[in-house]
Amino acid sequence: MEKLIINGPTPLKGEVNISGAKNSAVAILPATLLIDGVCTINNVPNIMDVKLSCQILEGLGAKIKWIDKNSIEIDTRNITNTIAPIDLTRKFRASYYLIGSMLGRKKEIEVGLPGGCNLGARPIDQHIKGFEALGAEVEITGGNVRATAKHLIGSNIYMDIVSVGATINVMLASVLAEGTTIIDNAAKEPHIVDIANFLNTMGADIRGAGTDMIKINGVKSLKGGQSYSVVPDQIEAGTFMLAAIASKGDLIIKNCITKHLECITAKILEIGGNVDMNGDKLRVWCDKRPSKAIIKTLPYPGFPTDLQPQMGVVLSLAEGTSIINESIWESRFQYTNELNKMGAQITAQGKSAIFEGVTKLSGASVYSTDLRAGAALIVAGIAAEGRTEVYNLEHIDRGYENIEEKFRNIGADIVRVVE
Ligand code: EPU
Repeated sequence: MEKLIINGPTPLKGEVNISGAKNSAVAILPATLLIDGVCTINNVPNIMDVKLSCQILEGLGAKIKWIDKNSIEIDTRNITNTIAPIDLTRKFRASYYLIGSMLGRKKEIEVGLPGGCNLGARPIDQHIKGFEALGAEVEITGGNVRATAKHLIGSNIYMDIVSVGATINVMLASVLAEGTTIIDNAAKEPHIVDIANFLNTMGADIRGAGTDMIKINGVKSLKGGQSYSVVPDQIEAGTFMLAAIASKGDLIIKNCITKHLECITAKILEIGGNVDMNGDKLRVWCDKRPSKAIIKTLPYPGFPTDLQPQMGVVLSLAEGTSIINESIWESRFQYTNELNKMGAQITAQGKSAIFEGVTKLSGASVYSTDLRAGAALIVAGIAAEGRTEVYNLEHIDRGYENIEEKFRNIGADIVRVVE
């Protein structure tokens, strides 16, 4: 078993480069199934979820060639299977994008019900509603999802809730459908725009991504023959921004889209941190104890749920009493038990948590309960006094590229060891 050993506290200082967005890459890779050709994807984060996505694509007949550690050439001319490697699809959430892509490409697909972080109930009813509106039949049996269609015909689809996954999945299924599809009450996250840009680069006709109404005019085929670069990871950038604040450090965060970080910047400024945006980089620093805040997680452009645990670390060290209301996931406060082992004073109940700010955290052995919880525990270990051991690294490795090396390069005393 691997663990991270962190000795703190260390004020983080220096420059860090942001990788391509995980949640974009894990949708773009299955989206390549819509292409009858070859394409190259650059700025791909080298993480477990991407490696799994590649294995699944190969299982369906795609040919994958890693050009370097962040670039992949994908040949999807010969897609032979319509049953995805079931065990692999159960290992992560984004395998649900195979349904939209393969419905578009082959009108048929079977995948395992998607797994991923345990954040409470994660239904896919809005995905299914969209596929059915386009003319597909969807059946869930024996833990698998099977979707088939004779024809896919464009439709007007109103999403009952704002869902990132359902918006992307229905967009994927409608790219090669006959006629026009309109997705109303669509999610607006940066990676939705990224996936639409990718598909348009390959020949699709998608308009309005990034607004709450997306219009997809079906095209006959996607030819590929192009390269595309994945957008920088908003959540990785936000994780380092909050690490700078929690550790009272001073970081230059490079290769990011500062517009995507405004929702985080606003809260950092409110609690007394500093942010200076400059082109595709920003400087974040903090030289005093942050002050309390009230946070509610919301779909983009609201405060992202995927930065809630990292912000929780900052607020556990802030002056005064803070409140976080988690409005996206039922069960995203599991990390607070681990932070309390480090001396935090957090009371979590249901979808709310109260943070009585403490002046210091102390090192302890802690367990990541999910991906972002794991990132938050690393940040806590860097800010805490003494030795912290972080376990269950498989969650963290699913979504962060070289995380300990990136933190080491900005001064953290962090090593990975095999126990
Ligand atoms: N929901 C439904 N029905 C659906 C779909 C969603 O009720 O058919 C509910 C969910 O239960 C949740 C809310 O709608 O309460 C929003 O879920 P959404 O569909 O937006 O989430 P997702 O697509 O499953 C993606 C990210 C998550 C991120 C959320 C919210 C991927 C692979 N995952 O999940 O990322 O938290 O959007 O921004 O893109 C992470 O990276 O750590 C992570 C969990």
